[in-house]
Amino acid sequence: MESIPRLQKLVDTLTALFKEREVKDEQQKLAIAGDALKTLVATDDWLPEEFAQPHPQYYQQYLLYRNPQQRFSIVSFVWGPGQTTPIHDHKVWALIGMLRGAERGERFELVSSGQPMKCISTDMLFQGEIESLSPSSGDIHRVSNAYANRVSISIHVYGGDIGQIKRHVYDASNGQAREFISGYANVNAAAS
Ligand SMILES: [Fe+2]
Repeated sequence: MESIPRLQKLVDTLTALFKEREVKDEQQKLAIAGDALKTLVATDDWLPEEFAQPHPQYYQQYLLYRNPQQRFSIVSFVWGPGQTTPIHDHKVWALIGMLRGAERGERFELVSSGQPMKCISTDMLFQGEIESLSPSSGDIHRVSNAYANRVSISIHVYGGDIGQIKRHVYDASNGQAREFISGYANVNAAAS
């Protein structure tokens, strides 16, 4: 990552912020980390082409950096035209910064067992903007490329090695959860 100075700056900030296993003052640290991410996505001249490739069918998650103690990871999320995630959670804090294009984020809430899930907000994220999510304030959402005719790319930071964390996707019609591990498009699961 020394070869990408803008990204290295974010890595250095995050390394200093999350050097302890236990995250105290999460909101305060996320505000500082969010500022560093905002600086990174303010300029779209640094992401290597290999981490910006869309797939014709699936959105892609490329691992850009993984902290050796697995305190955080940085991922480029590449959306093909019209692509969307299932409704999912994260189990760790997350920051999203829009590098190219735009995305739509819908937050969901579980109602009672067997009931349809409730969409509590829909927000657009445009180039240069950031948002944060935390399990402590509800982190279930669905994210889509806002454009039907172009690629969008966001840079995500997670409070763990997100590709290896057991988390959930949800059925909107009844709130049923299913466990999943997302992996990364550019890391062999067996070797990660
Ligand atoms: Fe997410």
